[in-house]
Amino acid sequence: MAPPPFEARIVDDPDRYVLWFRRSSPYIYSHRGRTFVILVEGEAVTRDDFAHLVGDIALLHALGIRVVVVHGARPQIDRRLAEAGETTRYEGDLRVTPAAHLPWVMEAVGRVRALWEGRLSMGMTHPPLAGARLRVAGGNYVVARPVGVRGGVDFEHTGEVRRVDGEAIARALDEGQVVLISPLGYSPTGEVFNLRAEEVATATAVALKADKYLCLAATSLPCDEAGRPIVQMGLEAATRWLEADLGTADTRRHLRAALYACRHGVQRAHLLDQRRDGALLLELFTHEGVGTLVTGEPLENIRRAAVDDIGGILSLIEPLETAGVLVRRSRERLEQEIDHFLLAEVDGRIIACAALYPDFEHRVGELACLAVDPEFRRQGWADRLLRTILRRARETGLERLFVLTTQAEHWFRERGFQPARVEDLPRQRQALYNWQRNSKVFIKDLN
Ligand SMILES: CC(C)(COP(=O)(O)OP(=O)(O)OC[C@H]1O[C@@H](n2cnc3c(N)ncnc32)[C@H](O)[C@@H]1OP(=O)(O)O)[C@@H](O)C(=O)NCCC(=O)NCCS
Repeated sequence: MAPPPFEARIVDDPDRYVLWFRRSSPYIYSHRGRTFVILVEGEAVTRDDFAHLVGDIALLHALGIRVVVVHGARPQIDRRLAEAGETTRYEGDLRVTPAAHLPWVMEAVGRVRALWEGRLSMGMTHPPLAGARLRVAGGNYVVARPVGVRGGVDFEHTGEVRRVDGEAIARALDEGQVVLISPLGYSPTGEVFNLRAEEVATATAVALKADKYLCLAATSLPCDEAGRPIVQMGLEAATRWLEADLGTADTRRHLRAALYACRHGVQRAHLLDQRRDGALLLELFTHEGVGTLVTGEPLENIRRAAVDDIGGILSLIEPLETAGVLVRRSRERLEQEIDHFLLAEVDGRIIACAALYPDFEHRVGELACLAVDPEFRRQGWADRLLRTILRRARETGLERLFVLTTQAEHWFRERGFQPARVEDLPRQRQALYNWQRNSKVFIKDLN
C-alpha cells in the first residue's frame, strides 16, 4: 500500500513533527552559509520521487545553503546512442566519444538539464516552498581538454577537467542562485567535451573549497565484509577498502571521487543512495545520517576495543569511577565485556570510550561508560562515539537506546534522549538498577 501523503502524516502525528523540526535546528544553523556540491547521477530524473529530490534541494537553498548541483546523464546518453543505432565503447569506466556521437551526447545532456531546470522552477510554486522564486545559473564554468590517446585508443570528444571557474560560480551563489552544472566542458579552442560527472563535481567542490561534496549515486554504498553499509571512513580506511577491491565498480568509482575531494581540501564527502527517498535530508539533518561519510578528520581512530586495550580503558575511566561519575568496573568484568566497547585513539593513546550492550529480545540497547579524557573534551569525540553507536544500534535492529547517568543529563538531552523511568527499562536491567546511586534514565527512540 502506498504511504499516506506527507501532509496527512504530519497531521496524524504533529508532536513527532515538531520534535523532529526542533532537533534539526542545530543542523540548520551549522549548514547555513556553507557551500555544498551535490552530484546526482542521471538515473534520478527517471525515478518517481525525482520531484521530492528536487524539492529537498530547493529546501537546502531556502535554508541558506549555497547549493551547486552537478547532474549526470550516463543512462540517457546510452539510451540516445542506442536509439540512434550507435554502439557505445567503454575503455574501463570511460566512454569513448567519437565526433559522430557528440550531437547525441549533447542532446541527451541537454534534455536532462531541461528536466532539472523545469523541476527546480516548479519546486517553488508547490509546497513546501510555494511563492519563493528560485533562480538557476549555468554556463561555461568547466574548461576541458581531451583525454587524448591512451593505450592506443583515441577517446576523441571524451574530455577531462582542466579548470573550473570557481570565481564565476561563487558570484552566482553570492547572488542567491542555485548553480546547475552539466557534464560537458569546453576547450579554449571552442570544442565540446563529454566529461565524467563525478570528475566535474569533485573538481567544482575543490575549486570552491566546498564544505561538503555529496554524491547521490544510483548504486549501493560501500559495505564491510559482512555486507553491512559502512557508515564512516577515514582516508586511510577508504584507501584500504579500494585496495581490497570490494564492492561494485560503480561504488569504487564514487568512493575514489570522494577520496579525491577530501584529499584536495573538501572537509567531508558523503556517499548516498539516491534510491532512498529523503536521503539528502536524513544525511544532513539527523545525527546518524544514512550514507557513508568520508573525511580526513580523525574518524578512523574510532574502533572496536580488544583485550589489549583494557589497560588504556582503565586509565581513562578509573579517575571517573573514583569521582563517582562512572560505575566501577573490574578488570575481569572489562575482559568479559570488551567486545561491547568502542574507543577513540589519538597517537596510540586511548582518549575516549563507550559501550553498547544490546538486548536483542527487547530490541533495546544500553549506552554505557561514555568517557572522554579531560584533555580531549569539547572536540566532538563524545559526539563521534555516540554517532557510531547509534548507527550500530540501528544496523543491528535495535529500536531504543537508553542510558543511565548522574552527571551528563543535559549532554544526552541535547542529543535527543528523553527522560524515562526505571520501570521503562527491560525487566532484567531494572533488577540491576542501583537505587543508592540514583542515576537518571534517558531513552532515545531509534526509529
Ligand atoms: C560527557 C562527556 C562524555 C562529553 O565529552 P566531550 O567529548 O567533551 O563532548 P563533545 O565534544 O561531543 O560535546 C561537548 C559539549 O558538551 C557539553 N558537555 C560536556 N559535558 C557535559 C555534561 N556533563 N553535561 C552537559 N553538557 C556537557 C560541553 O559543554 C560542550 O557543549 P558547548 O560547547 O555547547 O558548551 C565528557 O564530559 C565526559 O567524559 N564526562 C564524564 C563521563 C560521563 O559523565 N559520562 C556519561 C555517563 S555514561
